[in-house]
Amino acid sequence: MMNQEPLYEGKAKRLFKMENEDFLLVEYKDQATAFNAAKKESIKGKGKYNNEISSIIFTMLKDIGVDNHFIMQVSETEQIVTKTSIIPIEVVVRNVYAGSLAARLGKEEGTVIPKPIVEFYYKDDALGDPLINEDHIEILQLATKKELEEIREKALFVNNFLKDYFASCGIRLIDFKLEFGKNNENNIILADEISPDTCRLWDMDTNERLDKDVFRKDTGSLIGAYDKVLTRLKGEKTWLK
Ligand code: TMP
Ligand code: ASP
Repeated sequence: MMNQEPLYEGKAKRLFKMENEDFLLVEYKDQATAFNAAKKESIKGKGKYNNEISSIIFTMLKDIGVDNHFIMQVSETEQIVTKTSIIPIEVVVRNVYAGSLAARLGKEEGTVIPKPIVEFYYKDDALGDPLINEDHIEILQLATKKELEEIREKALFVNNFLKDYFASCGIRLIDFKLEFGKNNENNIILADEISPDTCRLWDMDTNERLDKDVFRKDTGSLIGAYDKVLTRLKGEKTWLK
């Protein structure tokens, strides 16, 4: 659709200007990366899955009152979003030990955490997105204390909703990452994407991995896994026995 130069190109998406300066066109790419792009591969169809899955989730979140940047999906791989100034904090919510937290605390993957843990990472590729705390965020002036409290509350609210929603699709929401941005009224709204690239999703019965860990660990077909997530979100309950 676009033959202009992107405004910004990231690892998984390209952002394009639109005639109306309040909006951006987001194109989801077929590229998969992991470990700060040390591992990189083009996987045909990946962009379509993440665009469709993220569109469904952001639409639902909007319906339940979580203000976010999503406006509409406009093609298989593209969506229109409200332009925001992204707060450079990756907010991770965890329900079950896995990934970097399981490694850091020496816990077995799959152990339930008694209550959700919220973590903050400094969104800076050159530094490898380091884990930071409230004090670092204040000193680096990434967000005020009040803003951070709002972000934390919103992240936990999204977790509560998504955990139940995925469960109704036969999926365990292990952990996920959110990003927030400020709109032109200076309100903090949910931005970026929520997809199997940014969540750990395990099959409720078999613990089959239905997310990017399939690519990170080379354990199977990424498209096969993402297709299962999309099918279930669309309500085609073929997984029910
Ligand atoms: P982690 O266990 O590797 O820290 O990942 C926690 C969650 O955050 C997991 O669901 C994957 C997601 N994530 C991203 O979306 N982007 C990233 O760059 C990383 C490292 C993790
Ligand atoms: N998103 C990061 C990367 O592209 C890391 C990850 O998701 O594992 O390298």
